[in-house]
Amino acid sequence: MSDQAEPAQVAAKAIYLADYRPPGYTTTQTDLHFDICDGQTTVASTLHIERLDTAADCIELLGEELTLVSVAVDGRELATNEYDVTNRSLTIFNLADQHQLQIVTQICPEQNTALEGLYRSSSMYCTQCEAEGFRKITYYQDRPDVLAKFTTTIVADAARYPNLLSNGNLIDEVLLSDGRRQVTWQDPFPKPSYLFALVAGDLAVLEDTFTTMSGREVTLQIFSEAHNIDQCDYAMDVLKRSMRWDEQAFGREYDLDIFMIVAVEDFNMGAMENKGLNVFNTSCVLASPNTATDEAYQRVEAVVAHEYFHNWSGNRVTCRDWFQLSLKEGFTVFRDAEFSSDMNSRAVKRIEDVGFLRSIQFAEDAGPLAHPVRPSSYMEISNFYTTTIYEKGAEVVRMYHTLLGADAFRKGTDLYFDRHDGTAATTDDFAAAMADAGQIDLAQFKRWYQQPGTPRVAVEESFSEGVLSLKITQSPADLPNQEHQQPFHMPLAMGLIDHQGGSISLDTANISSNSDVELRDNAQTLLLGAKDAVSEVRVSGLTAKPVVSFLRGFSAPVRVSHQRDDAELAFLVQYDIDGFVRWDAMQTLWTQHFDANVEATVDPVATLGELAKSAVHCATPEQQLLAATMLSVPNENYLFEQLRGFEVDALLDARDAALASAATAHADRWAELVERYDSDQAYQPDAQGMAQRALGNVAFSYLSKTLQGSVLEELLQARYAQADNLTDRRTVLAIACRSDGISGEFRHSLLQDFYDAWQDYALVIDLWFNLQAQSPLIDIAGLQTLVAHADFDVKNPNRVRSVYAAFGMLNNRKFHALDGSGYQFLADAIMQLDALNPQIASRLTTPLTRMGRYDSARQRLMRSQLNTLSESPSLSRDLYEIVIKSLA
Ligand code: TRP
Ligand code: ZN
Repeated sequence: MSDQAEPAQVAAKAIYLADYRPPGYTTTQTDLHFDICDGQTTVASTLHIERLDTAADCIELLGEELTLVSVAVDGRELATNEYDVTNRSLTIFNLADQHQLQIVTQICPEQNTALEGLYRSSSMYCTQCEAEGFRKITYYQDRPDVLAKFTTTIVADAARYPNLLSNGNLIDEVLLSDGRRQVTWQDPFPKPSYLFALVAGDLAVLEDTFTTMSGREVTLQIFSEAHNIDQCDYAMDVLKRSMRWDEQAFGREYDLDIFMIVAVEDFNMGAMENKGLNVFNTSCVLASPNTATDEAYQRVEAVVAHEYFHNWSGNRVTCRDWFQLSLKEGFTVFRDAEFSSDMNSRAVKRIEDVGFLRSIQFAEDAGPLAHPVRPSSYMEISNFYTTTIYEKGAEVVRMYHTLLGADAFRKGTDLYFDRHDGTAATTDDFAAAMADAGQIDLAQFKRWYQQPGTPRVAVEESFSEGVLSLKITQSPADLPNQEHQQPFHMPLAMGLIDHQGGSISLDTANISSNSDVELRDNAQTLLLGAKDAVSEVRVSGLTAKPVVSFLRGFSAPVRVSHQRDDAELAFLVQYDIDGFVRWDAMQTLWTQHFDANVEATVDPVATLGELAKSAVHCATPEQQLLAATMLSVPNENYLFEQLRGFEVDALLDARDAALASAATAHADRWAELVERYDSDQAYQPDAQGMAQRALGNVAFSYLSKTLQGSVLEELLQARYAQADNLTDRRTVLAIACRSDGISGEFRHSLLQDFYDAWQDYALVIDLWFNLQAQSPLIDIAGLQTLVAHADFDVKNPNRVRSVYAAFGMLNNRKFHALDGSGYQFLADAIMQLDALNPQIASRLTTPLTRMGRYDSARQRLMRSQLNTLSESPSLSRDLYEIVIKSLA
């Protein structure tokens, strides 16, 4: 009927939070019947609807790209004048209090390249319904505040699709006479349509069990294509650890008798928390020593936990509308970050998260697509799965935790789950539970949900006669039209270090402030609940001017400017008790070093030497990992976001020069570290192994910069040959891809060798594409050769990201080439992809939307590509929103 796409300019109309209305009818029970045949799937639904608003007499069901076969109400088929169907909806009129609607539609999953709704991936069928994909399966009240109990019947060829899965428990299974099989699943928990899932395939399964805290036994299954099943053990281990952790840390128990994960090759995002049937991108579930780097193992750990935790924060309590997305995502990111912190190093996890926030989320918050954690309008909800909703949203949840303290926070989450179980809630509901449990007023705190941009905090210190005074001034983000922003309620954690490097114990009797003050960490940390534009703190009774350790743990997502001696920063690098502050002080030394407007007095290369010296003696994995993190020069995107008014090539040159000088200045040290952390034990993805590899590989990367020619080639060859895992092998390959100290033949032969060995492992080949696409040595012709490779597939999002996102996000040299060729290369790809997969096209556009921070020549070139995109007559709604907002 309505498979003609309408032009984005017509369809793209903004949706406002202020327009939210509860539905006039709700659906209480949804019975679905899927008949899967080659080239055509027929979906029959029976919807039990109930009137909620006495004034309502019609129901609007949403549907896109569907072929409508029939509509019946209470068994009577409707004539075409009894309903209205458009390319976005089906409206049925003249309804009473309760009805059963029967709707039959047809869809073609084989043609679905957008990977939203029901689609094919390799030999299987699978679904992705969040946020608005269910409407591509059948006409439905596809909105998160309509919660129904689902039963799902699937009929498909028994030989080709032996696994027929859906949400809940399997209640019926019959082999039909025609060689087809029919199964029925029943999910006892009411859920919105975005949590629906179906999988049909011929899959291998890894099975285990988990006994919950109340003693119920749950069957755990991870499904994948047969050739991947031996890479699922780590995910299973993580799943069991997540289930136990959620019981212990949040008191949350799993609620069905079965929990399934399916690994899918073609997936737009990381994974999806469908009730009882999580669907995962293979990249977030598969892991083995030779096919996953340590970073990939960590990602599997975080994502398996994240999706599992959604069972409570997202599924049992869901979102009223999509403006509340951060209610589930911010909270669940916070929960998975706490899990990872408990499993690994808390300080290093915090440092990684802040590094990501500063380089990616701060950039979003400062650009044309800035939006609050709870947006007030959107055009296409798929565009709002952003780092602001996820990562800044998690920072907001972390601030409740900091302000309330761990015990009151836990009371708050218990109260929230208890109050809203089985319903659709809002971020205000979450805040209310926290306020009630913590007995605090959070009215002002809620500005974190409403005001976009990253606030600035300026710190001024003065010291006289034993009294330290701090003046802390908040100012709004430098976004257009943000003058009306009100001060935030922000937790600011700080401490004082004396001149011997000792942590000073504080006493409330000596502290005065216009803000709330609390002492934490055995009186080593002072927590300020700052609410005013200017906060002042005075600490008396000091014998000498201490060194201020500010924003411990990164207690609020702000930009800090703190005028102080560089020597104090170098001092904090060595002595602070907070791992984050130590790292942060080192980052500040680096950013000042690269800032043309700052006259730095401490050379970070010298400070790095001190760190390298002590890294030799690190005793615990925790210390080793922290050392590895602190020994790394800030990445390019981090510097781009921290500095203002830089020129791309000049900054990249300066960074390369710093790497070279750090390499040569401490060459012996790097060699010593490589040797010290060269493990002869078999690969283990545990804290000890990961820490040793991290430190060894950082040192090896520096060491490689001190050598060239055949000496370097031999060193790389030897380490490559000796590697028994992808982490070490990747380090060598990454060096080879970037180094101009080796011959082209050597680089090529290493890449060829790697390809030949791992060509059957898609995720490893993604890395092979990625390392080449991000190399500053590649040119446009080289990129074109990559995308012409037989293994390149524009329909596979992981492969697309491995070339185009790696190029746009990580190859700053070539992406920002002054002839505009990099921007052009990406824009052409975006246009091509938009016709196939709008979500992927829209996400790939991100690097072109950061123009504000580059020089005017580059800004013009980026704009011109966005302009060309905007003129296309066939833009998707997704891409249209990004492009017009960026050009505004
Ligand atoms: N809810 C998912 C998560 O964060 C996100 C997600 C998975 C998603 N697939 C998607 C969002 C497709 C938009 C479109 O865990
Ligand atoms: Zn999520």
